[in-house]
Amino acid sequence: MKVLIVGSGGREHALAWRIKQSPNLTQLWVAGGNAGTATLAENLDIRSSDIDNLLIAAVETAADLVIVGPEAPLALGFADQLIALGIPVFGPSSAAAQIEASKGFALDLMKDASVPCPDFATVSDEASAHAYINDHPGPLVVKADGLAAGKGVIMCDDSEQARAAVNLCMSDRAFGDAGDTVVLEEYLRGPEVSVFAFCDGEHLSSLVAACDYKRLEDGNHGPNTGGMGSYAQPDFWTDELATEIELTIMKPVLRAMAERGSPYKGVLYAGLMLTEGGPKVLEFNCRLGDPETQVIMPLLASDPLELMLACAEGTLDNVSVRWAMKNYVGIVMVSGGYPDKYETGFEITGLDVEGPEDSMVFHAGTKLGSGGSSGLPLTAGGRVLTVVGGGDTMESARDRAYSRLEQISFKGAQWRRDISSAANQGAAQAAG
Ligand code: AMP
Ligand code: GLY
Repeated sequence: MKVLIVGSGGREHALAWRIKQSPNLTQLWVAGGNAGTATLAENLDIRSSDIDNLLIAAVETAADLVIVGPEAPLALGFADQLIALGIPVFGPSSAAAQIEASKGFALDLMKDASVPCPDFATVSDEASAHAYINDHPGPLVVKADGLAAGKGVIMCDDSEQARAAVNLCMSDRAFGDAGDTVVLEEYLRGPEVSVFAFCDGEHLSSLVAACDYKRLEDGNHGPNTGGMGSYAQPDFWTDELATEIELTIMKPVLRAMAERGSPYKGVLYAGLMLTEGGPKVLEFNCRLGDPETQVIMPLLASDPLELMLACAEGTLDNVSVRWAMKNYVGIVMVSGGYPDKYETGFEITGLDVEGPEDSMVFHAGTKLGSGGSSGLPLTAGGRVLTVVGGGDTMESARDRAYSRLEQISFKGAQWRRDISSAANQGAAQAAG
């Protein structure tokens, strides 16, 4: 199979790495890519929002399968256009991608399908917001409905804080237009987990779970980031929990999407909170997670191309999807200053050193330096690398990941020292 992957992060490098091991692969391209994917595939210089040129690339490479990493091209209808051209695609249609692109769509769908989620209200004026707060005196989460660069989520312990948060959004307009509509949500407590199901519109694979860390600093302090680390699979992840999530969340969503005439194909990513009252959905995404993919691709024990093609073609019931009984830990190395201002263009050393057994390095913001593929790569983004270690226990996986990380350096590199440590497993986002 000739395969084209779209995207340029650690997620796409991990996909390319796993797909490269498939006996079904004949040729691989990555649209976007980085210095890491350049060692496995031919990189094409096309941005992932540039649908027109992505389509041309899919036709010119005569791809047998296009695998879409990020959500933007999916929301823009890239999968629909590929299907119109008869090119199999791993990723949902634009209508199905609404599950991530529109909070309102996802909430309506959950209500229709009786999928457990926090109690919520969407309000566009302050009087209604205050009325809801009066009726719900407990802790609340106040969210600016529009895109607010990850900053529009305010956790409120009581009504007073909730009223202040509403004022911040609606009167002070701290998030601009994004705060004109506000979502008020029940404040859920419990471990947070990312759960992934591969779907073909009707059937779904066995589930796989991972936890990620969004805060910059150890102990879950500092600003939110694109992700500072991840591990799979968490020790609270049992067959019983997987079955409960499949029956109460994943299958009802798949059925409801099909009933709405937008069957869901690709990977369905549920961001869940495991509350005392059972798992509840915080959000859905229409793609794989980053940095979760970097720790779940090494767990995939089935052929990745057979799996993804079956999702595209609606034949997933013929494929058995297996996940290895192992542990993987991924640590993200970021540029100094990230997620605010940072410099790039620094040489990365240590990538050619042989690492511990079962360790690997996935690139994100990197590019080839002046020496091309034989020279040192350069930093080219905020999140630079995900360093991954595997083992029979979480501890051995973590040791290998950190040992590999110690061999690598670039100017200003920073990372968390507590990824998957026992103290914060399953509570990755909690602290302030
Ligand atoms: P979001 O931008 O909606 O994905 O939220 C960002 C983070 O805020 C999530 O990963 C959770 O850690 C937290 N969060 C969001 N909604 C809630 C909620 N209803 N209860 C508790 N925590 C929440
Ligand atoms: N790991 C969070 C995300 O991919 O959205």
